[in-house]
Amino acid sequence: MKIINIVGARPNFMKIAPLIREMKKREKIEHLLVHTGQHYDNDMSDSFFKQLEIPEPDINLGVGAGSHAEQTAKIMIEFEKVLLQHKPDFILVVGDVNSTIACSLVASKLGVKIIHVEAGLRSFDRGMPEEINRVLTDAISDLLFTTEASANKNLKQEGVPEQKVFFVGNVMIDTLVHCLDKIQDRSLPFQNLHEKQYAVVTLHRPSNVDRPEVLEKILDALSRISQKIKLVIPLHPRTQKNINAFGLQEKLDAIARNGVIAGPIGYLEMLRLIKSARLAITDSGGLQEETTYLGVPCITMRENTERPSTVELGTNVLVGNDLGLLFEHFEKILSDHFKKGQIPPLWDGKAASRIVEVLVG
Ligand code: UD1
Repeated sequence: MKIINIVGARPNFMKIAPLIREMKKREKIEHLLVHTGQHYDNDMSDSFFKQLEIPEPDINLGVGAGSHAEQTAKIMIEFEKVLLQHKPDFILVVGDVNSTIACSLVASKLGVKIIHVEAGLRSFDRGMPEEINRVLTDAISDLLFTTEASANKNLKQEGVPEQKVFFVGNVMIDTLVHCLDKIQDRSLPFQNLHEKQYAVVTLHRPSNVDRPEVLEKILDALSRISQKIKLVIPLHPRTQKNINAFGLQEKLDAIARNGVIAGPIGYLEMLRLIKSARLAITDSGGLQEETTYLGVPCITMRENTERPSTVELGTNVLVGNDLGLLFEHFEKILSDHFKKGQIPPLWDGKAASRIVEVLVG
């Protein structure tokens, strides 16, 4: 069985690592790794390969940044050549980034079967590029592996035959569990931080950072919060670029007076940081899941989530752009009146092994 595994953007790396580890144990599976190059900086890509011990990609398409159409189209043109040359039985895609849909589309037209890991998640917000990527990838996938009950329900409603869908748990949590030992003796990645006395903030969604008035309001709110607790903000390149373009650097500097503003940080540094944080404020999908697993309160600055188990079972709340609600939950967390949460079913570090079992079965 020949499989081409695909990665492109930062959250993909954590998801592919445990799958490759499991595939290596199986002689039956011949596997290649393709990196589309959607993310290309050391801090956004290479450092993850090193820390997560992912093998060097066999092929790098080197597509880089661009508009959605440019990025998707470039990946498709380059990936078609790879498929024609290597003729795999399957491609395996993870998550919901542009690389996921671009490679899936190419495979479907060439009759190569598609395995989608983290299928079925829905925010029901078509304004979100990832939602389009999710819906379309699932519609043309042959094997769909899900992380939570809502995903199975969504796929059923969309008419995906049940025999194609496997509820296996969460490969992102596999990586977290695998790395917990590695961070045991690591000190916090920045100075003057103390256990449960700081908040981690990550914001990069276009809905929060692409409009000057929205980003400015968020920075003002964070500034207010930073008067009560130290904020640690590893900035995504998109966010930093927009802060510069909108002339908001001064607002960021105000937050830095009681906190840490940095560029993107490695996976192990981030995990270490989240584990000891009092809370997280985020718009990332992965962070909603990681905080739920670690029992760290999480305030998500989005109107919706495609990961409802983090709200229903876990430590996550959605506040959108409602800053009143943000402060309300923040105060609850500081005064220990916030929910405790529980870990969703099958988030146990063994999802990749279940997936590979299905593949060879
Ligand atoms: C992408 C994913 C998003 C994911 C996020 C994680 C899509 C549609 N979006 O968004 O789901 O949550 O990755 O990071 O696929 N840039 C760099 N260096 C890099 C990569 C990007 O400087 O290594 C800059 C570029 O200027 C680029 C911008 O960041 O234009 C955005 O990158 P892009 O890949 O288009 O989307 P993300 O916002 O990273």
